[in-house]
Amino acid sequence: MLMPRRAAKKKPGTDVFFRHMVGNMRNGVLAIARDGSVVLVNEEACRLFRLPPPLTLIGRPYADVLGDHPDIVRVLGGAFGMAALPNRAELRLSSTDMVIGYTLSLVRQEDGEPVGAALFFKDLTLVEQQEERERLRDRLAAVGEMAAVMAHEIKNPLAGIEVMAGLLRRKTKDNADAQALVGEIINEAKLANAIVQEVLSFVRPVKVQLFPTSVADALGSALTLADGEAQRGQIVINMAVPTDLPPVGGDIHQLTQVFANLLINAYQALDGQGRIDLSARLATTAAEGALLPDGHQAVPTVIVDIADNGPGVPPDVAEKIFNPFFTTKPKGSGLGLAVVRKIVDAHDGRIDMSTAEGRGTRFRVTLRVGPSPDAAVKPSSPQPGPQRGTRAGVEALKSPRND
Ligand SMILES: Nc1ncnc2c1ncn2[C@@H]1O[C@H](COP(=O)(O)OP(=O)(O)OP(=O)(O)O)[C@@H](O)[C@H]1O
Ligand SMILES: [Mg+2]
Repeated sequence: MLMPRRAAKKKPGTDVFFRHMVGNMRNGVLAIARDGSVVLVNEEACRLFRLPPPLTLIGRPYADVLGDHPDIVRVLGGAFGMAALPNRAELRLSSTDMVIGYTLSLVRQEDGEPVGAALFFKDLTLVEQQEERERLRDRLAAVGEMAAVMAHEIKNPLAGIEVMAGLLRRKTKDNADAQALVGEIINEAKLANAIVQEVLSFVRPVKVQLFPTSVADALGSALTLADGEAQRGQIVINMAVPTDLPPVGGDIHQLTQVFANLLINAYQALDGQGRIDLSARLATTAAEGALLPDGHQAVPTVIVDIADNGPGVPPDVAEKIFNPFFTTKPKGSGLGLAVVRKIVDAHDGRIDMSTAEGRGTRFRVTLRVGPSPDAAVKPSSPQPGPQRGTRAGVEALKSPRND
């Protein structure tokens, strides 16, 4: 059949079309032949597995190409022996800690004989993290609700104890022993009341007013705050914040609280000896770690790292550290990181922790670059008043009761 020449020239061959289609897919694709050689791999697969460009990989044994990803080698290796191949399975790569969702299929020729296997996959790390954050938020909400109810219930009898003890003090003016005991009761009741206030302030929603905020200023204030709360000792602090870093959208007092709580934890973990690296950088693309509020479009983001070279966090502790009231310290309240998370959430930011036992812990706070100075205030929660965290908690213990 004759075709108009122009049209025939424009239409790409099926092979070329197919190559472009696979090459531009937003999923990773990797196919191998029965002899174990790589037949097809697309750009996304190379990006996710950190491989050199696709053309350099074709024909090479997949076990060599994917040498850094033993989990994937295992999955592909089993393709020809499995009775039922995984469809929509998930896998966390031990190499990069990335979570992928994948489908494995056999490539069969006309007579049904398998001649290869194809792996289709997608990076689910962000989805996974989002789900984890949601699970945690639900847990926080449940614990917070219970704590609020209990704190509220305890408040009244506690006030009663204090009032009665006050009366008793007046009636036992001439008895020094009784005065001392009643004084103790009042002090203990004040302490309990301070704890109740701390819990209530924790469960109160955070009000954020977003203004362009200098991360360097917040870190500077946080250092002063942390030094007032905990012993820095011989710990060396390296701060690397570029002078041209744009401001983030934040509440300076709350961000100071966030960084101070992280610094206090680092001081306590280091116990007077070691190093803390404070750094901040700008990220504008997803690959650099910028936030993806809608899942696709990266927004300019400032990433703040607070890393210590302390003992690290063991895995069984790591999964609980953001839970309110979780602490491994004899005098900890376990609210420091819960408050940090709450404030960061209220800023639509992110907090991540990575740790290696014996080598240290890094907390990463990710915040959006700030609104312009004339931008509106972020809608706030109904409850006024600053969020109080570890420091406020300590202050509350020292301050007289206020009701
Ligand atoms: N930099 C760190 N290195 C090692 N472990 C840490 C670090 N930061 C936090 N942790 C662990 O996480 C736990 C929870 O921390 P969080 O700040 O929430 O509470 P806390 O420090 O125990 O008490 P609080 O901050 O209320 O005084 C700590 O008890 C500690 O075990
Ligand atoms: Mg703490």
